[in-house]
Amino acid sequence: MAGSQHRISVVGTGYVGLTTGACLARLGHRVTCVDIDAEKIASIEAGRMPIYEEGLAEIVQSGQLSGRLTFTTDLIGSVKGAEFVFLCLPTPADEDGFADLTAIRKVAQELRGNLDPGCVLVNKSTVPVNSARMISELLGSDDIAVVSNPEFLREGSAVQDFLNPDRIVVGADSPIAGEKVGALYLGARCPVLVTDPVSAESIKYMANAFLAMKISFVNQAAEFCDAVGANVIEVMKGLGFDPRIGATFLSPGPGWGGSCFPKDTRALVASARAVDRPMTMIEEAIRSNEIHIDRTAALILDAAGKTGKSHPKIGLLGLTFKSNTDDTRESPALAVIRRLVGHSVELVAFDPLATTVSIDGMTRVRSIDDALREADVAAILTEWPVFAELKPHDFSGLMHGKTIVDARYLLDSESFANAGFRVISIGR
Ligand code: UDX
Repeated sequence: MAGSQHRISVVGTGYVGLTTGACLARLGHRVTCVDIDAEKIASIEAGRMPIYEEGLAEIVQSGQLSGRLTFTTDLIGSVKGAEFVFLCLPTPADEDGFADLTAIRKVAQELRGNLDPGCVLVNKSTVPVNSARMISELLGSDDIAVVSNPEFLREGSAVQDFLNPDRIVVGADSPIAGEKVGALYLGARCPVLVTDPVSAESIKYMANAFLAMKISFVNQAAEFCDAVGANVIEVMKGLGFDPRIGATFLSPGPGWGGSCFPKDTRALVASARAVDRPMTMIEEAIRSNEIHIDRTAALILDAAGKTGKSHPKIGLLGLTFKSNTDDTRESPALAVIRRLVGHSVELVAFDPLATTVSIDGMTRVRSIDDALREADVAAILTEWPVFAELKPHDFSGLMHGKTIVDARYLLDSESFANAGFRVISIGR
């Protein structure tokens, strides 16, 4: 419908901004993506994506070909005539956990006086509650509505999540502005919640904190199962049949990580303490996650110690914080490996997409075989499908040892036991 296409500027071309800009263009809007990093803009315009996201390169290219998606480094020029300006800027956690809003403040100040009357400023960055009010004050103009529109994109499925959202959350003091932002998601067949900005900002933090807590619960349950001889995979399958619990996000692992959960849980607990309402359950979820990572590393070191070798070789599979991404930010795999460095072990690691990350004391190799060759112990730290497909002969032809620490519960321990391997997973 002609009336429903709008002129949109998206500020920031990271995981959220580039996905948001390309998908809004895909929905039919005319979008200009702007970034301070000229090199990044040039690379994207040349078709080289700065991030790995399934389907992103294709929708960026189709947006460019249709003329609906353009890129620039000119912030003020990009908002001329824009009806909506999305802020998709980094809000990293500072040392005491609070979200660092430097980028947001800087851009808001630059936009002051440069937005057309009636333009709507849409904040998609994850920001502490009450940031919409701060941004509005920085813009200093009553006829610019500031709306919170948090993202719920999972890395590795961000395009899919944007085009098929399970909910759209909009926080606005002006219901009309809120409805207008909700209406941008043309064709979305999901609930649209238009609420106040503080509630919308809180939804984002509470959602991620709850998911992180759910995984910490699963990993603590795995440790309990390990102690009593239960099978955590079976136990979680039993829990998942209850629709109040849900069958997803019940996979035990080495711990949770990524660029969102650690940042958002730290920001929430800091914000909660600042208003004297500590969210101790989330504080405990963070603490138990660290303990679980310690336990995963201890399992590997224990297996290495049992080889009887003075400097056993450990073949590590997986460096990213989860599968189907190249992102190693706050990866639990790296956290485990850092706990192995310094011990008398040789560390050799492979990951299908994380091809640049480096850790002193760890050698990164270019294939599974190179990681497993002559290894005394193997460890699986990320749930890549290519690792789940490995069979006993993939290990026996290469490894010295017969022990595999499977921190992602991918391998069928029975078939590996029949081939003389010991597959160790906490609680299975
Ligand atoms: C998360 C939220 O899911 C998303 O809605 C939000 O917008 C951004 O933060 P993401 O950080 O991409 O997305 O990763 P996610 O898929 O949530 O996984 C986070 C961590 O939990 C990963 O380390 C993953 O391996 C781990 N995880 C996830 C488990 O260990 N077990 C599970 O069952 C699910």
